[in-house]
Amino acid sequence: MRKPLIAGNWKMHKTINEAIALATNIKKEVANLRNVEVVLCPPFTVLSHIYNVIQESDIKLGAQDVFWEKEGAYTGEISPIMLKDCGCEYVIIGHSERRQYFSETDQTINKKIKAALEIGLNPICCVGETLEEREAGKTIEVINKQLKQCLINFKVEDILGLVIAYEPVWAIGTGKNATAQQAEEVHKFIRNWFKENFSTSFSESLRILYGGSVKPTNIKELIKEEDIDGALVGGASIDAISFSQIIKNAIKNV
Ligand code: 13P
Repeated sequence: MRKPLIAGNWKMHKTINEAIALATNIKKEVANLRNVEVVLCPPFTVLSHIYNVIQESDIKLGAQDVFWEKEGAYTGEISPIMLKDCGCEYVIIGHSERRQYFSETDQTINKKIKAALEIGLNPICCVGETLEEREAGKTIEVINKQLKQCLINFKVEDILGLVIAYEPVWAIGTGKNATAQQAEEVHKFIRNWFKENFSTSFSESLRILYGGSVKPTNIKELIKEEDIDGALVGGASIDAISFSQIIKNAIKNV
């Protein structure tokens, strides 16, 4: 059985003191929870601080992006080994905000996923369609193309730590989440895609997260779906109470 995973993408929020306070409060709220994996993805500037806060807890650390080279003259970039050094176990790759504002492409995402996996970081690879694409009936076509290009030249043994996040662009930060049925349809497609392109056992173990206006209320419906294994949470993850409630509500059979 796949363990639900709830990851908080703090985006460009929180100074050092604010971040420590938020992580401390989340740690208190989720201290005794079992059967759910929690990952905090704060900005680079506070990774080490959050790593210290989450010691002696089961909460894990993730980053929001990574560069593909190991080191060198790449001003402003952060390498996979630097993230490991800060205590990261996960890294979000290919978020739609990076595709939209920072020229991220499926090709650069492919390189980043490869670099992350090589160093033992678990990539959370984001895919998702725009409103225009959904309205044109192109959702599955878009997801298929993103998966194909982001995961080109990998063998199943290369991608064992991979997590996929389905984040419809029209649902991010809009308060308008995909319904559980809309999300499940895409999640099922993604799982089958991995079955066809990698292996049945890998596709069955793969965790596929939903992201886009997840809240304590709607996570209950989403998590009931067979192929929804958790959430990548934006806005609601920077409030300790709402994020903790999402985590509690994501534990199956509650
Ligand atoms: P919101 O939860 O704010 O819609 O953001 C989702 C997201 O982008 C998570 O990566």
